[in-house]
Amino acid sequence: MSVIRIQGLQRLYGEIRIQGSKNAVLPVMAAALLHAGVSVIRNVPGIRDVFCMIAILEALGCKCRLEGHDLTIDTRGLCMSKIPEDKGRQMRSSVMLFGPLLGRLHKVDACYPGGCSIGRRPIDLHLSALQQMGARIRADEERVEAYAEELHGEEIRLPFPSVGATENIIMAAVAAKGITRIHGAAREPEIEVLCRFLEAAGAKIHGIGSGLLEIHGGRKLRDTEFAMPGDRIVAGTYLGAVMAAGGEVCLLGVPAGHMEKTLAVAEQAGCIVKAEDGRLFAKMKGRPKAVNLATGPYPDFSTDLQSVMLAVASVADGESRIRETVFEERFATAGELKKMGADIRIEQGTALIRGRYPLKGAVVRARDLRGGAALVVAGLAAEGESRVHGCFYICRGYEDICRDLSAAGAKISLKED
Ligand code: UD1
Repeated sequence: MSVIRIQGLQRLYGEIRIQGSKNAVLPVMAAALLHAGVSVIRNVPGIRDVFCMIAILEALGCKCRLEGHDLTIDTRGLCMSKIPEDKGRQMRSSVMLFGPLLGRLHKVDACYPGGCSIGRRPIDLHLSALQQMGARIRADEERVEAYAEELHGEEIRLPFPSVGATENIIMAAVAAKGITRIHGAAREPEIEVLCRFLEAAGAKIHGIGSGLLEIHGGRKLRDTEFAMPGDRIVAGTYLGAVMAAGGEVCLLGVPAGHMEKTLAVAEQAGCIVKAEDGRLFAKMKGRPKAVNLATGPYPDFSTDLQSVMLAVASVADGESRIRETVFEERFATAGELKKMGADIRIEQGTALIRGRYPLKGAVVRARDLRGGAALVVAGLAAEGESRVHGCFYICRGYEDICRDLSAAGAKISLKED
């Protein structure tokens, strides 16, 4: 098993190129199934979740070729509707295949999707929408089977703007006959990316970027080429690294227009940020100031960056408050941060953090993707050596966190245990 070793208290200076977006590419890969043909996706990050999705698509009969960051998916051989269990359990995004598989093969057979353990992650909103669109669903504790001779357009009202459910419904709606409207759709930028990809392939979608989407289904799709934007969560993680460690860093390939709340919180912490032409300059002089934030659906502060901000707040000057409203167990990282000397108290969905600088190097374990990245950020502001185990999780979403932070002068490396 590998471990990340960090020698802390090194300020960061330099440039880091931001990888393509994980949360955008996974649904786009699923959407490629909607068309029996070839899709070329550019700026694809070389991360474990992408490799897992490729393995699933290949098991379903597709041909995939990843050359550098360009991925070609040929779905003409799609013939299987059963998502392989070992892969489906590894990744929450396997649920994204339900809509496209129902559209193309009229059935899907899968185990309940896995992913990080960050709280209850039901798929009731996905299933009930697909049901409304004409799918017959048989589900028990373990498996889900769905059939639909023909999906039809429908008025879908989401009680909560679930990102995954919105994406799944969009894909099913593209394959369905008639018009689907999604009321209360999630507005995350990755949904816009999915819609633009589908538009480029010939789909007709109105209201892109808003909470009311109208999809005209049943149109013939065509081969397409499409590039992924930079990953706003990875960019936010490295911004957090600068806040915790101090220094001056330029992040390249950043979708700063979709990071308003993140940038506002960085400024609250005393970080000077400037966005220009896909570049984000971040300058942090002393210790971060205390922050006060609540996570929420976009455009609110992203729950994916909550753990990273927990690490930053752990070294801030003063008492910070961080409220989690999306995933109940995202505070699991607090226990590991405490091993590094952080003073964190969790009360009814809110973390109260009394900052201490520096933290102490310690041996800690990642338990989820973003929590793992947060431990690395904490290690940058800790005296002595920190070792982060559970790198498996970090590799799900970061192409090479050690390479990226080393580029800005961090003393960090991945070692076999
Ligand atoms: C996506 C992101 C994830 C991010 C999350 C929230 C991807 C691959 N993952 O996850 O990084 O943290 O959005 O921004 O894009 N819920 C239900 N029933 C459902 C679906 C969701 O109750 O059928 C609840 C969940 O338990 C959770 C909340 O809705 O409390 C948000 O989940 P959702 O927006 O669906 O997140 P994901 O799409 O899984």
